[in-house]
This record gives sequence, structure tokens and C-alpha cells, in this order.
Amino acid sequence: MSLTSAQLGRPAAESTEQARTPYRHGLPYGTVPDLVIDEIVAADERLWVPQSDDVSFRPLLFGVSHGYYVNVLRVRRSGVLSRHRHAGPVHAQVLKGRWHYLEHDWVAVEGGYAFEVPGEVHTLVVPDDVEEMMTLFNVTGSLVYVDPDGRPTGYEDVFTKLALAREHYESVGLGADFADRFVR
Ligand SMILES: [Fe+2]
Repeated sequence: MSLTSAQLGRPAAESTEQARTPYRHGLPYGTVPDLVIDEIVAADERLWVPQSDDVSFRPLLFGVSHGYYVNVLRVRRSGVLSRHRHAGPVHAQVLKGRWHYLEHDWVAVEGGYAFEVPGEVHTLVVPDDVEEMMTLFNVTGSLVYVDPDGRPTGYEDVFTKLALAREHYESVGLGADFADRFVR
């Protein structure tokens, strides 16, 4: 027996007029404002928060209420990003360049997407022939920096990212609270 339209997630057909009629009611009490960003690869260099030498990030969302963040990571050199372990899932969308992990044989390529599972331990490498890499990362939970045997050496989460952004935006004259517009 074949599945019904409803079982396949297809809505009931509507007249053209009804299909173009917006929802007539307000959002439920308690919803927070949408966050819309036009230019995720910011032209204004001040928006890029330095994280280490030649590595910076452009915040898109600090999800403090659910312990995650979304940002564009930019690496302007070929090299290695510190080995770390993820407690939660990671979604990666490569906007420019390419990279791979020392621990895996796959390569994240421009225009591609990768899902990284909780428990992942990896070391990100940008190859020598890539001048600039930019990837949109959605990272849930904490990221623990580890030595080659898994011993913790540091950590990062939505709160360290937010603290770094607030400090940077203050230092470039935008004000620490510029970062707060990305908080939900
Ligand atoms: Fe990672």
C-alpha cells in the first residue's frame, strides 16, 4: 500500500489565493527575535575576531541557551589547527578553500558539507596550496583541546567564543555589546 500525501509530508492543496495568504496570527508568547545576517563573509575586517595567528572567526550566532555557536572560521595560511575533541555534533559547510583532518582520509572541499559526530577527535590541516580557507561551522557543546594521547589542554565553547568576541569588538571601537546582537 502506498503512503498518503500526509505521510509523505505534503501539505493539502490550496487555491492560489489561499497559498499566498500569510499566517494571520502572531507568534507564541516567549519566542525570541529572528537573527538575520546579510553578509556572512564580512567585508569589514573589524568583524573578524582573531583566535590565533592567521586564524579568525566571524560570529553568526551565539546560542547561549542551547550551548552552541555558528561562525565562519577563516584560516589565512596553510597549517595545522590544534587537535581537539568534540562533546557534541558539528556541521561544516566549506565556503572557500579546502581542508582535511589528520585522523581521516576524506577532504572537505569548497561547496561541500560535513557532519562530525560527538566524540570526534581531530586535527584540522589546511594544505600548502590553499591561501585562504573559510568554513561555516555549527558547533554544539564543548571542544576540548587535547594532546596526542587525549589529555585535555584547554577548551572552547559558546561562552569562550562570546567572551573573545566581546573583548575584540571593544578593542576595535565597536563596543563589547556589538557581540550581543548574535546572542540567542
Ligand atoms: Fe573540530
